[in-house]
Amino acid sequence: MIAQNQLVDYLDQNLDEYLNSWKRRVRISDDDIYKDKVVANGKLMYQLVRTNIVDPIDENKIAELAKQIARERVEANINIGDFIYNVNLGRSVLFDHMTRSDVSSDDLLPILQSFNDLFDTFAYHAVTEYTKIKSDELQEKISYIDETHQEKLSILGQMSSSFVHEFRNPLTAIMGFVAILRKENPEMKYLDVIEHELKQLNFRISQFLHVSKKEIDGVEEEEFEVGEVFNDMIDFIYPSVVDVDVHISNNIPKGLRIFGQKDKIRQVLLNIVMNSIDALKEIQRNRKINLFGEKLKGEMKLHISNNGPAIPEKKLDTIFEPFYTTKELGTGIGLYVCQKIIQNHNGQISCKSDQDETTFTITLPLC
Ligand SMILES: Nc1ncnc2c1ncn2[C@@H]1O[C@H](COP(=O)(O)OP(=O)(O)OP(=O)(O)O)[C@@H](O)[C@H]1O
Ligand SMILES: [Mg+2]
Repeated sequence: MIAQNQLVDYLDQNLDEYLNSWKRRVRISDDDIYKDKVVANGKLMYQLVRTNIVDPIDENKIAELAKQIARERVEANINIGDFIYNVNLGRSVLFDHMTRSDVSSDDLLPILQSFNDLFDTFAYHAVTEYTKIKSDELQEKISYIDETHQEKLSILGQMSSSFVHEFRNPLTAIMGFVAILRKENPEMKYLDVIEHELKQLNFRISQFLHVSKKEIDGVEEEEFEVGEVFNDMIDFIYPSVVDVDVHISNNIPKGLRIFGQKDKIRQVLLNIVMNSIDALKEIQRNRKINLFGEKLKGEMKLHISNNGPAIPEKKLDTIFEPFYTTKELGTGIGLYVCQKIIQNHNGQISCKSDQDETTFTITLPLC
């Protein structure tokens, strides 16, 4: 105990020197609302070390203190680097003082070990608490953003569904009259073009319907072959395939049967293939779209690849966000709709992309 008391006396006598040399080098920002307390914390650190020399302090007590100081540091908006720097500065100034006392090195060694433990424990609890508070704050912000995002989407859904109905009724009527015109005047020119354009318009408008939850819930479900839906869809976009000169190879095996809303799955395939065709316009020749289907345990995977330009890695999630588009005339809801539909079918959709190939993979439960 003699060595301990000797050391404590020595530290007490040199307290001012310790505090001054700590204060001179400490990092305090001007807008720190606890500026005055930082110096007080230096004193507190000293008191702790002093008590710890005579009687090692219990870990719970150190943790309590470290947490309290960490909370203040968060409130003062101080970065963790400055905070730890100041603590370590206190540690090295005190260490310096202790080694300059008359206490023999044999007596000093165990005291220094306990001193180091004290600082390690303190830093551990302070950083853990600081990080925890910061990550809770971040989580709160994320859920707030998420909530407002969801609200916007729901308003968008409601607006879309009323717009769509307004547009769709006259469109259906026009399509009906075009069909009558064709029947009555089979040789009339341009009817094919008009019909094709109307179908495209109808498809564009329907796309918005998928954003509205109501529509997703209301459609009948059935069992069907994925490969057949794909073939139907290709007939629909045949003019674009020829126009852009794309070679499509369909390797979806027979027997990939799923249960769900056939029209919606058709829409998903259509969106992905239309996107692929758009991407392929950027390369000069040898434009290819490859379909590959596989049966796994209880589920199927469908890979749709094209050899167009790569999607940058950091955009791979963003492309599924509503309204993200790089196209002059794009709406940016195509992939968002795909993701919604696939999720409503208890599946997942993802994208991988590199210089050679961009692949969209859809996973769905098998019948
Ligand atoms: N196969 C692909 N290759 C390269 N980029 C792609 C591919 N598919 C999608 N993208 C990128 O993802 C973006 C979003 O696609 P999405 O289908 O959601 O909207 P869009 O095609 O731009 O517009 P819309 O589908 O409404 O006409 C595209 O603008 C494009 O940048
Ligand atoms: Mg698209």
